[in-house]
Amino acid sequence: MSESLLTVAYIAASALFILSLGGLSSQETARQGNRYGIIGMVLALAATAASDHVAGSGYAVLGAAMVPAAIIGAVLAARVAMTSMPELVAILHSFVGLAAVFVGIASYLGPQTLTGVEHTIHLVEVFVGVFIGGVTFTGSVVAFGKLRGLITGKPLLLPGRHLLNLVMLLASVGLGVQFLGAEATHAAGTFPAGLTPLLVMTGISFVLGVHLVAAIGGADMPVVVSMLNSYSGWAAAAAGFMLANDLLIITGALVGSSGAILSYIMCRAMNRSFVSVILGGFGSDGGTPAKRTAAGEGGEVTETTVDEVVDLLTHAKNVIIVPGYGMAVAQAQHSLSEVVKILRERGVNVRFAIHPVAGRLPGHMNVLLAEANVPYDIVLEMEEINEDFPNTDVVLVIGANDIVNPAALEDPESPIAGMPVLEVWKAKTTVVMKRSLASGYAGIDNPLFYKENTRMLFGDAKKNVDLILAKLVESK
Ligand code: TAP
Repeated sequence: MSESLLTVAYIAASALFILSLGGLSSQETARQGNRYGIIGMVLALAATAASDHVAGSGYAVLGAAMVPAAIIGAVLAARVAMTSMPELVAILHSFVGLAAVFVGIASYLGPQTLTGVEHTIHLVEVFVGVFIGGVTFTGSVVAFGKLRGLITGKPLLLPGRHLLNLVMLLASVGLGVQFLGAEATHAAGTFPAGLTPLLVMTGISFVLGVHLVAAIGGADMPVVVSMLNSYSGWAAAAAGFMLANDLLIITGALVGSSGAILSYIMCRAMNRSFVSVILGGFGSDGGTPAKRTAAGEGGEVTETTVDEVVDLLTHAKNVIIVPGYGMAVAQAQHSLSEVVKILRERGVNVRFAIHPVAGRLPGHMNVLLAEANVPYDIVLEMEEINEDFPNTDVVLVIGANDIVNPAALEDPESPIAGMPVLEVWKAKTTVVMKRSLASGYAGIDNPLFYKENTRMLFGDAKKNVDLILAKLVESK
């Protein structure tokens, strides 16, 4: 395939990737967005495989790497549970980081055809690319371990950790200067002089990746995963520069910038500053052991029954449902969708309120509700619906906890103080469906459970929604 045809194919693939990102920004167009992405990637792979760079080096090697990788990827993606998605994403980022390290070192060891300033620029690309790749690689492996529970979610806080990070960064800069000054060409059978500083820096970047992510607590992990997503994009863009591959540069920049924007949005939703997340130290291990006492720290808890909840729902004019991580675990969305259908048929105004960090990954609740065929127009974002709670008769909180915690607004000492939350306690009656009084992801108590207008419906969310559905069908 000629160079100009390859360029055309790459431009088309880039346009498809941009259309794909645009499509993924809303639920109605997400499927189409995915299709654009798939077509773009197939086009990019086919054009690269047919290009002169690859055609000469033999398809056997390419096939031997790509076919098993594609099969493993497809099987893993098909098998993964929605709740384990962040770990899969984290481990995939680590591959991008490692690839950038390999590409950088290989392109330094290969024949150096550039001269003068161009050569220096290329060396800077190699050095920076390997550095970002190294941090992304080990950082993502640690993030995977934390999300999977293989490593504790508690932040690792070494004394003088900021200084340690600074020393590692400065050492890398020093090695970079040494690397640029070293002779890059080398006789056959020998290594170029710059290889030693490059490899030492690679080792330091690995340690830095581990240390940076190990210092970050469980509650900040979602932001870290999206930040590593951004790093992996920049690592891919750096690899694109090293290989003089325009498509890789564009794709890497798209991933890098969209990951950075997503991190920013999530930081805002959790009221955390970007810098404080990167520097680490916040967050606990996750949920505390379940304690089911009638009177918690905040006072009395009022229990309710399925019959009472059905009665409340059927006599309500306005109902808001707040789904959380527990709905995903229980897989209650399908029965819930049926409940909503019956209530709407009976003239009840039912809507869903979605917090930006509900569940365990961005858009988690939207995906589950779409899968259960809940109409998009009754699924609203936090800022669209938060002011409507005072005019709501019944709020059903299903397996959510941190995202409806009034302590975020009422207790300045709370670890989640200032985080915007769904103000469900302002409704006439709030029904909280969960199995116990246990805390959620942030590991903190929730005063909502002890409020006067809160009713606790204990039990598995799916089981209780099924019971509510059965009663509603019975009374039809
Ligand atoms: P959480 O605060 O984690 O609370 C979920 C609650 O669901 C738990 O308290 C649990 O209580 C209950 N639950 C678990 N299994 C259940 C079941 N089978 N039936 C009924 N209830 C069940 O969830 P949330 O309110 O959705 O908030 C999300 C949290 O996760 C935030 O802290 C957020 O920062 C964090 N986070 C978010 C993301 C993203 S990007 N969305 C990623 C990682 C972490 P019981 O044990 O008493 O049942």
